[in-house]
Amino acid sequence: MSNRANFGSKLGVILASAGSAVGLGNIWRFPYEAGNHGGAAFIFIYLGCVLILGLPILIAEFLIGRHSRANTAGAYQKLAPGTHWRWVGRMGVLAGFLILSYYSVVAGWTLEYIFEAATNAFTGKSADDFITSFQQFSASPWRPVVWLVAFLVSTHLIIVKGVEKGIEKSSKIMMPALFIIILILVGCSVTLPGAGAGIEFLLKPDFSKVDGNVFLGAMGQAFFSLSLGMGCLCTYASYFGKDTNLAKTAFSVGVIDTCVAVLAGFIIFPAAFSVGIQPDSGPSLIFITLPNVFQQAFGNVPVLAYVFSVMFYVLLAMAALTSTISLHEVVTAYLHEEFRFSRGKAAKMVTGGCIFLGVFCSLSLGVLKEYTVGGLTIFDLFDFVTAKLMLPLGGLFIALFTGWYLDKKIVWEEITNNGTLKVPLYRLIVFILKYIAPITVSLIFINELGLL
Ligand code: PFF
Repeated sequence: MSNRANFGSKLGVILASAGSAVGLGNIWRFPYEAGNHGGAAFIFIYLGCVLILGLPILIAEFLIGRHSRANTAGAYQKLAPGTHWRWVGRMGVLAGFLILSYYSVVAGWTLEYIFEAATNAFTGKSADDFITSFQQFSASPWRPVVWLVAFLVSTHLIIVKGVEKGIEKSSKIMMPALFIIILILVGCSVTLPGAGAGIEFLLKPDFSKVDGNVFLGAMGQAFFSLSLGMGCLCTYASYFGKDTNLAKTAFSVGVIDTCVAVLAGFIIFPAAFSVGIQPDSGPSLIFITLPNVFQQAFGNVPVLAYVFSVMFYVLLAMAALTSTISLHEVVTAYLHEEFRFSRGKAAKMVTGGCIFLGVFCSLSLGVLKEYTVGGLTIFDLFDFVTAKLMLPLGGLFIALFTGWYLDKKIVWEEITNNGTLKVPLYRLIVFILKYIAPITVSLIFINELGLL
């Protein structure tokens, strides 16, 4: 495939990969986990997980993708023809398809909240009003579905434009915009009266809260947040040029992803503490607690409450969009390359399939609430099967594949760009992929299944 698409610039490579990593996972999950699990102590452990486990596996995905220059399923077929390794790639494609289906439901909610914030619907609401309106909205049979479709169609329109004009260009616009919005929001939040308590909550290391579970939680978060384990960054790396420095790019992605997560904490906690609200977890944090916090915190200056709320939900929507694009690309590239559908047709199939599954995920929070599997609604089931099972399993196999199966020469050639780059930690990276990553990821996995 000599005319295969490529990213046009190094900045594009970094921003598109960081765009995949930075998403809903950074903005609601990380701050909450950090705040409740020992603040800076959690951040410290999380950083350790990113450096010791996340980055080597990220480099492994990059090298598999760039060497094979194929979609993630095709990559294993090329590098290990006739073996069962191809199932690792296929599982990644399936995970991408399933994650995209339920992730787009929540991503769609961000559009509703941009709309509500922009039409001043938050003004004058009490804490109870925010709870009721979120419950009514998420359980409604059609409104969230409309936003879900809108979000997937927006993702589709970017994907069909291709790698350079679609993915790269949109990341180059959205990622800088996202950083600017974050910095403005952090600036507003930390200068609120009483914000210091929130900063302390996030930054004061409380080692008494650190136990085995916190350590494992931090690893799971690092995985989801860095988009690892399903070949997402492997697919992007298949569009990297020969001169891209894989280790350096992985490091930049890790730094950007972690900075956004920590800065999201600096938006949420100072604002929440300044009005005396204890931050909650999960979707209720961003869709119930925060709109209420913003109203109260900036209530004296309504324009500020308005601008802050709109900007926050635009930030969430953009972060989610750069992630849904990467999930969509994994499946589109697979259908396009493995089954020879045109890129447009492949993208239509992915968008259509995800709308179909996404509707069930969305309805499972309302009219289909009674239909459960093992006590989980369809939405929760998708989340559990992908984030808790498929991603760690994928990560484990990626480390084993690179550490044990793949020819050492290929690993060396890719990481050092044929010996032209000096990578001082090269031996350490290989050692981690061979031993440390498989053992630790197995531990997370066993723990998540409740076997430990
Ligand atoms: N990293 C994204 C987030 O933090 O929201 C989620 C994600 C995107 C996970 C792409 C996996 C993936 F392949």
